[in-house]
Parts: sequence; C-alpha cells; structure tokens
Amino acid sequence: MTSDSPQTELNRFSRILTQQMDNPAAKAMLYGVGLTSEDMQKPQIGIASTGYEGNTCNMHLNGLSVYVKQGIQANGLVGLIFNTIGVSDGMTNGNDGMRYSLPSRDLIADSIESVVAAQWYDGVVTVVGCDKNMPGAVMAMARLDRPGIMVYGGTIRSGHYKGQKLDIVSAFEALGKKYAGNISDEDYEGVIKNSIPGAGACGGMYTANTMASSIEAMGLSLPFSSSYPATHEGKQEECKKIGAAMRRLLELNITPADIITKQSLENALTIVMALGGSTNAVLHYLAIARAAGLTLSLDEIQAISDRTPLLADLKPSGKYYMEDMLAIGGVPAVMKYLYQQGMIHGECMTVTGKTVAENLAEAPDLDFEAQKIVFPLSQPIKKTGHIQILRGNLAPTGSVAKITGKEGERFEGTAKVFEQEGDIIVALSKGEILPGQVLVIRNAGPKGGPGMSEMLKPTSAIMGAGLGDKVALITDGRFSGGTHGFVVGHVTPEAFEGGPIALVKDGDLITLDAVGRELTLHVSDEELAERRSHWVQPQPRFTKGTLGKYIRNVKSASEGCVTDEA
Ligand code: FES
Repeated sequence: MTSDSPQTELNRFSRILTQQMDNPAAKAMLYGVGLTSEDMQKPQIGIASTGYEGNTCNMHLNGLSVYVKQGIQANGLVGLIFNTIGVSDGMTNGNDGMRYSLPSRDLIADSIESVVAAQWYDGVVTVVGCDKNMPGAVMAMARLDRPGIMVYGGTIRSGHYKGQKLDIVSAFEALGKKYAGNISDEDYEGVIKNSIPGAGACGGMYTANTMASSIEAMGLSLPFSSSYPATHEGKQEECKKIGAAMRRLLELNITPADIITKQSLENALTIVMALGGSTNAVLHYLAIARAAGLTLSLDEIQAISDRTPLLADLKPSGKYYMEDMLAIGGVPAVMKYLYQQGMIHGECMTVTGKTVAENLAEAPDLDFEAQKIVFPLSQPIKKTGHIQILRGNLAPTGSVAKITGKEGERFEGTAKVFEQEGDIIVALSKGEILPGQVLVIRNAGPKGGPGMSEMLKPTSAIMGAGLGDKVALITDGRFSGGTHGFVVGHVTPEAFEGGPIALVKDGDLITLDAVGRELTLHVSDEELAERRSHWVQPQPRFTKGTLGKYIRNVKSASEGCVTDEA
C-alpha cells in the first residue's frame, strides 16, 4: 500500500494510453471498441477468463465474466474481458494430453501477465476454474502486482446413479471395477453418463477446490468464493460485487504484494491441511511464493502440516463434497474457528480492503453438534496434516505424500517399475499387479514426462480393482487431488535428471515411512553406483514446441516447477 494521492492514481497505468498525446492509435482503438470520452478518464480493468465450451470446469466462466463486467462498469470503471487458454485435467490422457496440463499453468500466468501489462490495465480480475487455472492466475497477479481479485468458477454439484452420489473419480473407479469384473456394462455406462451433471469444478477436495479454498484464505478472493457452487445464485452475486471491491482496492492501492505475504501463505497452507487438500497445493504454493518474491520451502510446508490437524471429512478420502460445505458456513466458518484457536493470522490484508480478522467477524460459526463434515481440534480425523514431505536415498531433495491415516503409515514392498503411466492399466487388466508391490512410475517428471502427469487413472483403477490398500505407488509425476491410497509423488530429483528413482529395478525392496518421513530403496550404495555407471539420460520426448520449451525451462518439483527463473 502506498500513501500516494489515491484519486489521481486510479488510472495510473491506463492513462499512458488515454491521457498522453503521443498515443493516438491506442485511443482511436479504444473509441473503436465502444469507449466514450468519459470512459477515457476511468481506470481500466482486465477481466481474464479461462472460459471455454469444452469442459464443465470452464464452460460457464465467460458468462460469469459478464456479471463481473457489469459490476465493474457500475462502479465507474471500464471492464474489458479477455480469454486465456485453459486445460481440463479431467480430459487429458495420461501419456499424451496430461503432458500439457501443468505447463498450461505457466502459459496462463504468462498470457495474463502479457495482456494486462501490454494493454496497461490498472487492475485485473481473474475468472477461473479447474486445477492449473487458479495458480496460473495468481502467479500472474503476483508478478503484475496491480490491484487484483480472483473469482472461482465454483464447485460442481454431485451426480447421481441408483441412489449413489457420483463425481469425476467415480468414473475412473468404475473403470477399475470393469477391469476386475465388478460392474455390469449397463452400470458402467450409467456411472459415466451421470457422474458430471453440469458446470463446475470437480466436486471433492481435489485440486480445484483445494486451490480455491486456500486462495480465499490467502485473501485474494472475496469471502465464500470457494464455497458457492458454480450454479448457486451466490456465485452470480459474488461476480456482481467484484466491481465495488475492485474500486476499493484501487482507491486504497492494495496490491497482491500487500496480500500475498509469508503469513497469508501460511494461512493458505493451514486451510489446505485442515481440509485435506491436494498434494498439488505444495507445487503451486512453492510457485506462487516465488512469483511474489517470497521464499517458501518444503520444510516450512512440513512444519505447517505438523501443527495442523486434518479436520474435514471431505472426498477423496472422506465422505462429503465441496457443495456440502456452504450449508455449514463454508470456508469462512472454518477459518473463523481456526482463527479463534490461534491457527490463522488475522492481521493479513485481503481483497475486501479489510483484514482477515475483520472479514471473519462477519463469518458464521461452525456448529459441531449439527454437522459432521468438519471436526473440532479435540477430535481430529488425524492429529497432524495429511501432506508429508518424505526424503531418503530414493528422494534426496524431497517428495510429497498424502497420508490421511486411513491407508496406514508405513508400507514395505517390492518394486514393479513402469516407464509410463498407461502401462499400469495394461498390467492391471492382465492381473499382473499383485498385493505387496510398490509400483514405481518414472520418467513422468516435469522434464521427463514432460509436464509431470497426474496418476489419476492408475490410482483410481487400482482402487476400483480393490488393490488400494494392498499396493503403494511412487512416482516423479504427480497425483490428482482425487487420488487416495498409499501414494508418494513429486520424487526429486526426477528420473530424467538421473535421480535415484531412475536406478530402481523390479524386485528391489522399498520402504515408504510416513512417520519417519523416509523413502528408502534398500539397495547398497555400491550397487547403486554400479547401476548409475550404466545409466544413460533418455532423449527428451520433445525438442520443439511448447513442451520442448518447457523441458528446457522448468525447475524441479521441489522448486514449484516454475519456468521463469534462470
Ligand atoms: Fe477441472 Fe477437475 S478437471 S476441476
């Protein structure tokens, strides 16, 4: 926040185009798109939408952007909608399309940064759904450091089939049941047709809802943004309120640098832990912190996990969906409870122009008698957070595990190595996945994949086949927020860079120890040195195009897979 004379500064960027004599073409173009002489005096706000028709997470975002624009205009500002790309993780294929998913986060960040900076917008509103779109938007907002607000597109409603509630993961698990012969063709089709009933992001505490909840906790969305389902009337109301909030941010000159701080990152990660959020949050918050010029380490994330109990019984490991949260007070009620217990920093600034504590004064209280979705600290589902950072001779620079306690805290088994994700599905269909195995999927890292694919398909298929508590899975790729079971991802260094995971052979003994936080390959140093002497770095799978560029630029998962640092 600066103490500049606020009123004259509201259009501090767009005035370069609208007030200076030497930009006649820009002004002519702005008249050409319909602005008036009066509009030329007003601040301009870019409204970035990841909307597109092809998937349910994003299909409604262009419509929400129109409501945002109405609110912006009603508050004496000019709103100009633009689109970025967006990739839906639910529609990618493990060995092909999913390669583009994580890289899309940085493309979204780059494109929002490019448009807002190049067109001299005074502020930015990002209207986003799906996993990568939110961190991509926030990274851009942090880089730009102009007044900005993120609007979450909202969670999806549940699907229903034969009395059962369904979501995207039900579709994957149905595939596992099909392989195991546990579901009829009719029921399989019934699940697929009914899992996704319309607009909204995947309905459990998967990556989209994890990021939305925690970005709200960080202060970059209006209260309840993460709790209104996509089709709830509250979502439209939120969009219409953005204009007044943006006006206030401009007047007070509150920018993301005032909002994204070490303390607000801790608030975000506390919410990730309390709600049982996705491991992808680790990757994305490492990247968001770097975009904001802050340091955040895996050890700091572990420390937050150590002090934050898992409180919410939400899918994938629990019973409830994000749509159920609104009725119990949504994320603001959870934050209020944690704030009262001294676990949330109240002094952090937010996009309302008020602090977290001031916002929470108006939030509802959790009623622990009436609801069973979020438990009190005295009765946690797990005494510490579910996200654990594991190191050891198999992951010297770190790996990320999701341990809710339901899968046990230690797994020892023999390695079965796969060079690509899709091979597991083939092995599963042939009955070659056996209890006691540690499935190792390698060359799936940020450079090796490339793009660090999510293992949603294999893990869901393994669950569906009834092997979820009998095998473990480790990878230098990632896991979907929908994943559950004994899984360790983000293994670094990745196989492509010669990390120890590249040296594992079928039959090696591996221990996953979530208590000691170790990932151990029980092979002597001499034997590993011998194997390393024969290791040859694979050829990059792409040398050109966006993936070729990604391989050359991306940092390790332990550094957030950022692409804009030397
Ligand atoms: Fe978009 Fe799940 S695939 S939120």
